[in-house]
Amino acid sequence: MRHLMSPMDFSVEELDELMDLAENIENDPKKYAHVCDGKKLATCFYEPSTRTRLSFEAAMLNLGGSVLGFSSADSSSAAKGESVSDTIRVISGYADICAMRHPKEGAPLVASSKSLIPVINAGDGGHQHPTQTLTDLYTIRSLYGNIGNLTIGLCGDLKFGRTVHSLINALIRYENINFVLISPDELRVPSYIREDVLRENNAHFKEVERLEDALPELDILYMTRVQRERFFNEEDYVRMKDYYILSKEKMELAKKNMMVLHPLPRVNEISVEVDNDPRAAYFDQARKGVYIRMALIMTLLDLVG
Ligand code: NCD
Repeated sequence: MRHLMSPMDFSVEELDELMDLAENIENDPKKYAHVCDGKKLATCFYEPSTRTRLSFEAAMLNLGGSVLGFSSADSSSAAKGESVSDTIRVISGYADICAMRHPKEGAPLVASSKSLIPVINAGDGGHQHPTQTLTDLYTIRSLYGNIGNLTIGLCGDLKFGRTVHSLINALIRYENINFVLISPDELRVPSYIREDVLRENNAHFKEVERLEDALPELDILYMTRVQRERFFNEEDYVRMKDYYILSKEKMELAKKNMMVLHPLPRVNEISVEVDNDPRAAYFDQARKGVYIRMALIMTLLDLVG
């Protein structure tokens, strides 16, 4: 049995296969409409979510399966003090696969060690978010034909942003990726990413503070939200929240074919006027999340081929 905790759980070849399958599904969804007939997905979400939970549910429904679950800790027995280990043991008897989001780093990993069904980490605190990374990789591959030879700017809350941590982990394995890490000093990537992932793998990266300085050289700009829920106090959040705002004027500094990605939800960091720019790819990115999650569910349930 296989779980997904981090994008590193799949080799580059396996990621390619997963993206090939997602592409086949996207091109001919009807062909896959009954692959999961009779199967159930449990979505155990101890933290708010729109895209991740609903795209998982849409993915399972598109495959002919059914879904059950909870969307907040208060509506589950966590509110009574139940551990994730006990919860997953029980859910193992109700469903065939589980997607779990939790505010505590490592909670889905703990659950996977006690689970009798595959567990997918749907975001654990400020740590990792592997299925967003699968979505990001699939989007990048769809836009460029392959993943490599790119300068990618990651901008915003690089400290608490789990999507950034997972994406860096995944991208260092591809050829000739240059990272430009754009953040205020207080929100720089944690050292376990800078030292243990980027430096350790001799990745090409630099850290800058001004978005305007970085923009002209980027092929992709990956914007992120300042993660309010992970700040220790509201004042620090308020000081940081509007540090970066990608506006129409700033887009003029960028290459004509630079693509803008964002895991969403957006707060203020991309002005809505940018949505009409052909380089804004974030809503399409969210749409693609369904196909890659369909491919992932099929793979973990061993229903491919
Ligand atoms: C992200 C998350 O939950 O980490 N959202 C998502 O799943 N697309 C990004 C965020 O919340 O800022």
